[in-house]
Amino acid sequence: MGSPISVNWLIREYREEDLAAVVHLMDTTAPLGQESVFSLGECINALTTRQPAAVVTQGGTVIGAALATVTGDRAWIMRIAVEPAWRGRGLVSGLLFELERRLVESRVRRIAYILPEEEPLGDGLRNAGYERRSAVAYFERIEPVAVAGADALERLGGRTLPSDLWTRLAGMAAERSLIERCVVLPLAEPELAARHGVAPPRAIALFGPPGTGKTTFARAIASRLGWPFVELLPSRLADGGNLAAALRAAFASLAELEQVVVFIDEVEEIAAVRDGVPSSGAHGVTNELLKLIPAFREHSGRLLVCATNSVRALDPAFLRPGRFDYVIPIGPPDAAAREAMWAHHADSSQHTVDLSALVAASDGFSPADIGHAARIAAQTAFERAVFAQDDGLPGASTRDYLTAVAQCRPTATPDLLKAFSEDIATHARL
Ligand SMILES: Nc1ncnc2c1ncn2[C@@H]1O[C@H](COP(=O)(O)OP(=O)(O)O)[C@@H](O)[C@H]1O
Ligand SMILES: [Mg+2]
Repeated sequence: MGSPISVNWLIREYREEDLAAVVHLMDTTAPLGQESVFSLGECINALTTRQPAAVVTQGGTVIGAALATVTGDRAWIMRIAVEPAWRGRGLVSGLLFELERRLVESRVRRIAYILPEEEPLGDGLRNAGYERRSAVAYFERIEPVAVAGADALERLGGRTLPSDLWTRLAGMAAERSLIERCVVLPLAEPELAARHGVAPPRAIALFGPPGTGKTTFARAIASRLGWPFVELLPSRLADGGNLAAALRAAFASLAELEQVVVFIDEVEEIAAVRDGVPSSGAHGVTNELLKLIPAFREHSGRLLVCATNSVRALDPAFLRPGRFDYVIPIGPPDAAAREAMWAHHADSSQHTVDLSALVAASDGFSPADIGHAARIAAQTAFERAVFAQDDGLPGASTRDYLTAVAQCRPTATPDLLKAFSEDIATHARL
């Protein structure tokens, strides 16, 4: 064994930036018999949630990797992958040695590895002191996804949303594109993302003036992913009792779910700037949430979405990069977005509505403001039909809409917009 050329490879702990290379290695070596009972997805999840893993590099290139997952005092080696050209040079033993060092630190007492019968890495394992248990057969049953966590979902008041909420979002092209690229796609395609070294986000925050579509976006993300949607309402969670304890219980139930989008609206109510008074109730709740987020982040298939109208009221520690991957402003809709919204509302009128006039008149209107104005116009047209006793009248006209717009005050006052752009400058993280 060994080669006459010096084998200057290096074994070290796995780092986040190794992800793409390790996934590539697992991908390319699986057909060569170096496979595992753990799926590629499970292995990626272990890597992105910082389960113990080691790599061996040569000239900066990853040529081998080993990863494990720990449950209690037992660790399962999930996968050992070695570049075929580097087989038989003691890499497997070296990787196992590095991995074991970390496992022992985590108080693991038993290390197990299940291999296919003809696994070519067996020698490396024996050299590293592993004993083959004979007369063991591996059985498994794949649970249908819907069954796991059904109880927890019900307890949390969660549900699966209609599948078209994402496509029904009108306009907001910039926000939609950002969320689609950075949030939805890495979660929907975790293996492809991992191959490119992209760790999927686990938590995002949306901020902006009221009625701009934060709740709508959160629901649309769940719909787009096909994951159940759970909204945690601080007012209902607390129920007069201890909000911190209720949050803890809710997050414990969330941990039972395979996949979920968790939404906390008006998060400033629970994560407001800490006033420095240790005994205050809000302080304890902020701390509780700060403690719960890291554990929540350790699992794939989860996304926490927090929304706030008042990002500057949040505790600065709350939005730290390690907790929230993106802090995304959702502002009043631009002209294209307003046009799509007006077109949607005016769809029920038989008039040809002058959309560009409505778009121009509704600058600064939020989606909710536009919805409100459209409702006033529709009501006007409806009343006209009732009083004329003519059900053949054509619905709201451009004039009805413009009159309604003139009656409404946009949510986004100049002051509010100024504050919002300051907030974008200080808080947004894209
Ligand atoms: N992009 C959008 N397209 C169509 N309707 C929207 C859009 N964004 C928001 N709305 C509508 O505007 C209203 C307010 O939106 P919401 O998500 O509740 O705002 P926020 O949570 O920011 O206060 C809702 O009725 C929603 O359906
Ligand atoms: Mg909302």
